[in-house]
Amino acid sequence: MFNESDYSFARYLSAKKSIDDRALNRCVWDRFRATLATLDKSKPLNVLEIGSGIGTMFERSIQWGLIEAVQYTALDAMPENTLEAKSRLPLWADKLGYCVNNISENEFRFHGSGIDATLDLQTGDFFEFAQRNASAERWDVILANAFLDLVDVRKTLPIMLNLLNPEGLLFFTINFDGVTIFEPGVDRDLDLLIERLYHQTMDERTANGQVSGDSRTGRHLFENARNNGLDILEAGSSDWTVFAGKDGYRQDEAYFLHFIIHTIYLALKGRPEIDERKFRDWIVTRHSQVEKRELVYLAHQVDILCRK
Ligand SMILES: C[S@@+](CC[C@H](N)C(=O)[O-])C[C@H]1O[C@@H](n2cnc3c(N)ncnc32)[C@H](O)[C@@H]1O
Repeated sequence: MFNESDYSFARYLSAKKSIDDRALNRCVWDRFRATLATLDKSKPLNVLEIGSGIGTMFERSIQWGLIEAVQYTALDAMPENTLEAKSRLPLWADKLGYCVNNISENEFRFHGSGIDATLDLQTGDFFEFAQRNASAERWDVILANAFLDLVDVRKTLPIMLNLLNPEGLLFFTINFDGVTIFEPGVDRDLDLLIERLYHQTMDERTANGQVSGDSRTGRHLFENARNNGLDILEAGSSDWTVFAGKDGYRQDEAYFLHFIIHTIYLALKGRPEIDERKFRDWIVTRHSQVEKRELVYLAHQVDILCRK
């Protein structure tokens, strides 16, 4: 079991990487790669990633051969994520044999083996960033991984579109979509109540006084895309599946599970709808199922690729 001070969001994002790697929908990914290959190669691709965390999608995009010559802006609201990205990305590049140059305090150039990527790590709120860059139509691609379920997509999508070039691409991945499963069950009624209330906290989330978040973001993306005149090029499920094999959970995935359980604890503690003692026991049981390598966790998510 972990103490409160052991829970680090940066470590959670790092642990999540191998789970996202398995989950990302390969049909959507391949369509994205094929579409990128048709774009003008005479200048570097201009990519904006929103809610970029510690930079795992940048790493993956390079490592999985998605992008080669790129000007990549990675924006995240949390300064500690940017700090972590600044320390982890040069180590990651070094391991893969890329040369790394520090262009400025927050800008890096990674090059070698056909890659020439300039990465600008920016810290700040997307909506303020968008206001500063209003109607710039600068980016060829906007990416967001595990981000859209935190915002009001109906308001956010038109703001994103103002930043995107005509015919620019939107690649939205790991969008939560209303199903959380823990196996084995503890108490069927309590399991269902906790799932329902946990999703409700996502729907009731606010940011800057505005409702911000949707526990069914994935399915709602289709209508949101169409309402904004977008061409949906590909879409598919990107469910998280976390389980222990004979050697236990992979990489740091046990930590990921403890973090998710703790997140549910923080989201629901003190809720009058749940008996406090039963809820605490449920949380303890779930943590101990991870320790015993019994817990299986599934979350339904959707990836989508659209063109403006
Ligand atoms: C669930 S995390 C995902 C991080 C990363 N994309 C990944 O998959 O590892 C969501 C991220 O969005 C960032 N975020 C939330 N609201 C934001 C906003 N309004 N502007 C910029 N970043 C935001 C958070 O700081 C957090 O790092």
